[in-house]
Amino acid sequence: MSVWSQEVPTEGAVELPPDPRAMNALGRNHSLETALADLVDNSIDAGATDILVRFVQRGTRLVGLYVVDNGRGIEPERIDAAMTVGGQRRYTSEDLGHFGLGLKAASFSQAASLTVLSRAAGHKAVGRRWQLNASRHGFACDIVPGTFAAAELDRNWQLPASASGTVVRWDQVNGLPSSDDPDQVDEFLSRTISHLQGHLGLTFHRIIAGRGVRIVIDVEDIHLGAGVRHRVAPIDPFAYPDTLPGWPKDLKVRVNDNDLVLRCHIWPRRSNTPEYRLPGGAEARQGLYFYRRSRLLHAGGWEGIHAADTRLQLARVSIDIDGDTAGMFAMNPEKSRVSAGPRFASAVAAARADDGTTITDYLQAAEAAWINANRRTTARRKAVLPPGKGFHPKVSREIRNELPLLHEEPLNIQWKRFTTDAFLEFDRNARTLWLNRAYRQALLGGRRGGGNDLPVLKALLFLLVGNVFEGAHFGARDKDNMDIWQEILTAAAKAEKSTFEARS
Ligand SMILES: Nc1ncnc2c1ncn2[C@@H]1O[C@H](COP(=O)(O)OP(=O)(O)OP(=O)(O)O)[C@@H](O)[C@H]1O
Ligand SMILES: [Mg+2]
Repeated sequence: MSVWSQEVPTEGAVELPPDPRAMNALGRNHSLETALADLVDNSIDAGATDILVRFVQRGTRLVGLYVVDNGRGIEPERIDAAMTVGGQRRYTSEDLGHFGLGLKAASFSQAASLTVLSRAAGHKAVGRRWQLNASRHGFACDIVPGTFAAAELDRNWQLPASASGTVVRWDQVNGLPSSDDPDQVDEFLSRTISHLQGHLGLTFHRIIAGRGVRIVIDVEDIHLGAGVRHRVAPIDPFAYPDTLPGWPKDLKVRVNDNDLVLRCHIWPRRSNTPEYRLPGGAEARQGLYFYRRSRLLHAGGWEGIHAADTRLQLARVSIDIDGDTAGMFAMNPEKSRVSAGPRFASAVAAARADDGTTITDYLQAAEAAWINANRRTTARRKAVLPPGKGFHPKVSREIRNELPLLHEEPLNIQWKRFTTDAFLEFDRNARTLWLNRAYRQALLGGRRGGGNDLPVLKALLFLLVGNVFEGAHFGARDKDNMDIWQEILTAAAKAEKSTFEARS
């Protein structure tokens, strides 16, 4: 049997620089939202008050993306360090930066080309470009002429004038639709912008509300110029309208000379506000919220201290990990997750509020609040068919949130060509309410349609006619109602159509 030796002997060393293709693997856990949040981090660290996220559209193609800020900018002698993978700098206790990776990892997770153009006050504009597929050049980073950098920085971004600022530009962005169908591009953009508003609004809610940082999103058509700006509003997951008596409570425990504080909140009841109905849905957002330097790193989940449970969805706990509580937590480089170490569960179990409340007491109180609040609302509402095809996702989600659902096939509301001028066809076999396509243009008023178009009309129809699709037969009463709806709605649709045709 051989013996374990403590020392590993060596005989010289070889230099093995990483293969540039390793860059391909950077940031694989990023989504577009988390990647852009990483760039926003950098703008905030640079003291920016205004940050613009811009999609660039050429015809039906989305060709690129910009993040522009009016922050401090990068001095010419610092730009190379900024572009270096793992190029850490000295961080202050306020900085969101930590790894020296964010800019590169976030960018290469979404785009094959990253260009940074920046100007620090009193310095010339500088620019660098990294291209992923140019690995034949090893780690060579392209130098962008100062004139181009200045021209990009001085484009009319409609940000408050500033002597300094940074433009981060992504080209060859993957995941953008390469469709020729303008509807698909529009739909992608509106969905993406709304996801981004949700993610950035949540991640930076303390910074937006507390420091007045403005983040806006827009789309520039290279021929038509920039469109409307969508403001990112703060979404504070703890902004409930009124508190339950005695809550929130701070549960504290001493861990290696640091105080770990769990601020335990209970929403008084469910709510329709974006603050309650967070991206991903309130139910998935119960649990722990970790903040580092006012930036939300992680929103929801119990990290092993309890299992998720519908009845715990009013429970949200905020934890600031600024002091880092002696290495108990680790954040991932994408800054989208915090993992709690093995000692976390026992620390939480030992935590107490001043009045002696424990985590178990808290979870019980949150569950009791849920049961109590629910008794008063949804339980009394009549169940409906689940919404199927044809509904805008937000309408479907709202129906599912507000109403108990029957365990039956969903109800679809869809367009088709009719041989008559009736507006509706009740197709019980296909569980579909058909709408006569002859009226579609008029109802859209000339806007483009899509599978989920006219959400208001469809939501109204769902509420009005939904129950005639339930169960096995149309009753006599149902038949009469269907006649009434058909007559009145067909007259209304014809009126819409003639008004529309008179206009166009
Ligand atoms: N918008 C910006 N304005 C000014 N400087 C910037 C900007 N973006 C990046 N930088 C500079 O580039 C450096 C590298 O950024 P990068 O995001 O890669 O790393 P980091 O922010 O230092 O750390 P982390 O990996 O945690 O994000 C930053 O430290 C900063 O000096
Ligand atoms: Mg960074």
